[in-house]
Amino acid sequence: MSDFLELALRRQSCRTFSDRPVEHEKLVKCVEAARNAPSGCNSQPWSFVVVEDPAIVAEVAKTTQQLGINEYQSKAKAFLVVVEEYARLMPKIAPLVDSQVFAKGDLGGATLSFCLQAESLGLGTCIIGLFDRPKLRELLNIPELKSIFLVVAIGYSSTDHVRPKQRKPLEEIVRFV
Ligand SMILES: Cc1cc2nc3c(=O)[nH]c(=O)nc-3n(C[C@H](O)[C@H](O)[C@H](O)COP(=O)(O)O)c2cc1C
Repeated sequence: MSDFLELALRRQSCRTFSDRPVEHEKLVKCVEAARNAPSGCNSQPWSFVVVEDPAIVAEVAKTTQQLGINEYQSKAKAFLVVVEEYARLMPKIAPLVDSQVFAKGDLGGATLSFCLQAESLGLGTCIIGLFDRPKLRELLNIPELKSIFLVVAIGYSSTDHVRPKQRKPLEEIVRFV
């Protein structure tokens, strides 16, 4: 697959994971893609916990299933937990803006890089924003001071079906001037 748009259209939130285990080397490659994402002042305000141990994977899945949603996460074979770190901005910029002002965008970019790399390796992912933060923090021993940004469920999809994207029309979201 060489065309980037083709890859972007193939990536979709996977909610039907198969029993096939995920190779450790592929997860490392996905983290490499995330690590090389751009960030404000190259501050890289992220760290990652990759959960592969089946017993811990099952516990992480439970933290995503509050409110009776995300039931399908029980079949995920691994999880990425994205943690927001302190963003050290360039000395000229630091006095002008809050240190974390670019961090959320940076973390979103890194998360998407992870997911697109996963897609290119044949893996399915689903970004999860709703999860029990205190429970996940305790489970993975993430310090109180650090904010858990997102969780990503990972596995092989049990289907090859690619859903058509439901998106706002181009004319609605862009102006070329
Ligand atoms: C920040 C964020 C949080 C999300 N949280 C969840 C979630 O908790 N559960 C879920 O099933 N999907 C979740 N999603 C997936 C979105 O529903 C999905 O990306 C969107 O509907 C577009 O569909 P697509 O990813 O298949 O293109 C989340 C996506 C993002 C970016």
